[in-house]
Amino acid sequence: MRKHIINILKRARGTYVSGQALCEDLGVSRTAIWKHIQQLREEGYEIDSSSRKGYRLIHVPDLLNSYEIEPLLTTTHLGHPILHYKELDSTNIEARKLAREGATHGSVVVAEHQTTGRGRSGRGWFSTPGTAIQMSLILRPDLAPFLAASITQVGAAAVATALQELGLSPQIKWPNDVLLSKRKVCGILTEMSCELDHIEHIIIGIGINVNTPSFPTDIRSVATSVQIEKGAPCDRKSLMAAILNTFEPLYQGFLEGHPYPAYLRICRELSILIGEEITYESPQGVTTATAIDIDSSGHLVVRHKDGSTEALLSGEVHLGAGLYREP
Ligand code: BTN
Repeated sequence: MRKHIINILKRARGTYVSGQALCEDLGVSRTAIWKHIQQLREEGYEIDSSSRKGYRLIHVPDLLNSYEIEPLLTTTHLGHPILHYKELDSTNIEARKLAREGATHGSVVVAEHQTTGRGRSGRGWFSTPGTAIQMSLILRPDLAPFLAASITQVGAAAVATALQELGLSPQIKWPNDVLLSKRKVCGILTEMSCELDHIEHIIIGIGINVNTPSFPTDIRSVATSVQIEKGAPCDRKSLMAAILNTFEPLYQGFLEGHPYPAYLRICRELSILIGEEITYESPQGVTTATAIDIDSSGHLVVRHKDGSTEALLSGEVHLGAGLYREP
C-alpha cells in the first residue's frame, strides 16, 4: 500500500494529490491513507498535507528500501522482495535466518547500517551508517554443492560491471574483491547451507563503500569508496539496482554452464592478478607463484617457479611476494 502511495505522489512530481484521489485509486478510507502517510513520514519521506489540496511529496530520503529499489529493477527474481532494515548486526546473519524460515530465491536483505558486519576469515567489515550498500542475496540454485564455489565471482563481475557503467575502471582480485585505484571498494562474503548432494541456500553478502568520505587509519591505505574515486557522491539506489540487474543474467549464465560464461570473462578481463606474482597460504605453507589465468571452472591458475601449474579452487591470495594482513 505505502509503495503505491509513494508511486502516485512521485508521479505527481511535487504537485498535490487529493486525499479523495488516493482513496479511490487504492480503495481504502481517508483514515487509512493518513495512517500510511504518517508511517512514510516516520520512514523519512517529507510529505506536505493540506486539508484542501491533499498530499505533496517534498523530499525522498536516501534509503535502499523496496519503494525506491523495486521500480528500478528489470529482474525476474532478484530483489523480489527487497527486505530493508535501518540497522542489523549483519545482513548475512539475517538472510540466513530468513532463508531457514523459507525466504524465496531472489530475496535481498539490505541494511542502512550493520553493527557487526562480517568479513572473510573472521574479520569485521567497516561501514558508516547510510553511506554504503550492504546487502545479502538469498539464492536457491538447483546445483551440486561442489559446483557452487565460483558463484562469488558472479557477484564480483556484477559489481565491477555496474561500476564501469559509472565511468570507473574497477579491477577484480580473485575470487571476490573489487578494487578501484588498487584499493578495495567491495568485499563479498558467500555462505552456503547444503547437504552432500543438495544446496539449501546460498547467501551472497556484498558490501560496497559508496559514499564513505574517509576510512579509519588502519585501513586507509587499502580501502576506498566510489565517492572518493569519482570525486562526487554516488546515487546508491541506482548502483544497487544496477548490480542486481547485472547479477541476474550473469547468474543465469553461471547456471547454464557455458564453456566460458560471461561472468568469468569479466573476472578474467578485469583481473588484477593475472600476469602478477602472488602469495597464498596452503597446507604446504606460504607459496609465491605467478597467476596466469582463470580457467573455465573459475579456478585461479598459477605457475610455480619450477614451471608446473596449479589451479587454486578458492582462498585468499595476495599481490606480490610475502603475506600481509588484510583489513
Ligand atoms: C570481505 O572482503 O572480507 C567480505 C566482506 C563482506 C561484507 C558484506 S556487507 C553485507 C554482508 N553482510 C555482512 O555481514 N558481510 C557482508
